[in-house]
Amino acid sequence: MYHVNIVVAKNPAEVGKLAADQFEAVLRVKPACVIGLATGSTPLPLYRELIEREKAGRIDFRRVRSANLDEYKGLAPDHPQSYRRFMQENLFDHISIKPENTIVPDGLAQDVDAMCAAYEKQIEDWGGVDVQLLGIGHDGHIGFNEPCDSFPRMTHEVELTDMTREANKRFFDSIDEVPTAAFTMGIGTVMAARKIVMVVTGADKAGILRQSFFGPVTPQVPASVLQFHPDVTLICDEAAFPG
Ligand code: GLP
Repeated sequence: MYHVNIVVAKNPAEVGKLAADQFEAVLRVKPACVIGLATGSTPLPLYRELIEREKAGRIDFRRVRSANLDEYKGLAPDHPQSYRRFMQENLFDHISIKPENTIVPDGLAQDVDAMCAAYEKQIEDWGGVDVQLLGIGHDGHIGFNEPCDSFPRMTHEVELTDMTREANKRFFDSIDEVPTAAFTMGIGTVMAARKIVMVVTGADKAGILRQSFFGPVTPQVPASVLQFHPDVTLICDEAAFPG
């Protein structure tokens, strides 16, 4: 088993700063790097920090390529709750990354297998992900890889669990509007990243963090697979720290 770096920050803002340090380090060494990005509330302080750091001239996104973890099935890119729109509003519209260098799974894909295969191929053609950002769901999901009987290898379609739909309903007008399915990078896609940075905040995540990093590795707790990745940095706030 590999060693997981655990960094405990005072609060969510500091989690954002420490995560930004990790991305800044990769961008400085490799200005044309490939970054894997995530949605959810937890990465927002990080995205604000990255925007500020580019404005301050510390980092430069002009040569960066990005691949997002997931997207809701059935939502158009400009839907207010789509992950594409989330990324535009919270990061891409405020940095110098080229639009053609950002990919998010196509929520409206008709040929799902072809879209998923093309997504994998694009990442491969770029040379793989240098640093992948992850959050975590209350059931241990990463991207939208929900608990299941085996670790999914590639980008694929998933049914969302009631717990995940419930957790994400805060962004929609009602639970009925939360999509029942999504497209997500597989666990294999995530594990192929050369470096992984996970951000976690809030006492409600402490239990699942403990299970993920100190419990058995099992697809029933998808994030537990990270114990087998050689370069994971977990940045959590004091409330989420499972120690
Ligand atoms: C969604 C996303 C995940 C994210 C999770 C937690 O399910 N697909 O990638 O990690 O939400 O989000 P939050 O950070 O808002 O708790």
